[in-house]
Order: sequence, then C-alpha cells, then structure tokens
Amino acid sequence: MAVKETLKMGHPLLQQVAQPVTDFNTPALDALIQDMLDTMQALNGAGLAAPQIGVSQRVVIFGVDANPRYPDIEVVPQTVLINPQLTMLDDEMEEGWEGCLSVPGMRGLVPRYTRIHYTGRDQQGDSIERDASDFHARVVQHEVDHLDGILYPQRIRDLRNFGYESVLFPDLTPETEPPEARE
Ligand code: NI
Repeated sequence: MAVKETLKMGHPLLQQVAQPVTDFNTPALDALIQDMLDTMQALNGAGLAAPQIGVSQRVVIFGVDANPRYPDIEVVPQTVLINPQLTMLDDEMEEGWEGCLSVPGMRGLVPRYTRIHYTGRDQQGDSIERDASDFHARVVQHEVDHLDGILYPQRIRDLRNFGYESVLFPDLTPETEPPEARE
C-alpha cells in the first residue's frame, strides 16, 4: 500500500488511548496493517503501533529476523497483534536501551518486565496467546504502551540515561546499528 509518515513525540494522537478493533477481515483493517508493514520495513524498525501512523486503533506489529550481521540479536516472530492484553509473569524487571520511530535520533534506558504473557488477535481475528521474555517481552511492552498513549521517555527512571544516539553510541552507523533500536 504505502509508506506513511510517522508522527513524532508531541503530537496529541500519540497521547491518546487507542480504540479496540471490532471488525476483522475488512478492507480498512487490511489496508492499515499493510501500511504499517510497509512503513516498518522502510524504516527498518522492530515494531510499530497504529497511532504512530495516525490511526488510533489497538493494532501493533513487531518482529526481528535472524541476521548474520548481528549474530547476537534476539529473534522475535513477525507478528500482527490486535487488541493486545498483557500480564506480567512475575515482578522481575530489567533495564534496556530503547529507541522509537516517534522519537528519532534518541535512546533511553527503560525498565521493562522480563517475563510476560500476552494475548490478542491476528489479522484474521484468530486468537494469539504467547509467553515472552527479554527483548521479545520488551518490544511488546513498548508497542502496547503506544496504544495507551505512553512513549518510552515517560518510563525512564533517570533522565541522565536519555540522549542522542550519536552521542551515547558514537560507533553506530546506519549500517551497523541493529534494528532493535527502532520501535
Ligand atoms: Ni515506539
């Protein structure tokens, strides 16, 4: 379909609670998901939420494929997740660096639950149910936050751990940066 413009932090739509999807297998939903896939691929992102392209509905996509250039990367299944619900499997949290397509050029150290259970629907309306940990769990929490109007800087405990990626990670270039930085 189309690569869409991504809204940037400060846009009021990114602060709204998005609406649940009620109808599946509609041209509008399929077009939204295709636009999201096209946009995430064009920007080399690890995840994207519908509000980031200006649609306030509870739809997220995410996924990281194995890549020989980044042997240490954690693979996350390519997923379309609609009306997600999260539960934490225990209280353990860990800090990790995040970036966001709506906060370009920045990185922050964000605490997330290490182990979660999530449910939702796929593009056809069939149910999805998974346990996830570590980076997979981090990506899902980041994307679901978008549906509740929360951007990762709001989760940073110490704002000294928020800055420009070119300063924090001066050795990274667009060619060497793993895609997990962009959600
Ligand atoms: Ni994001």
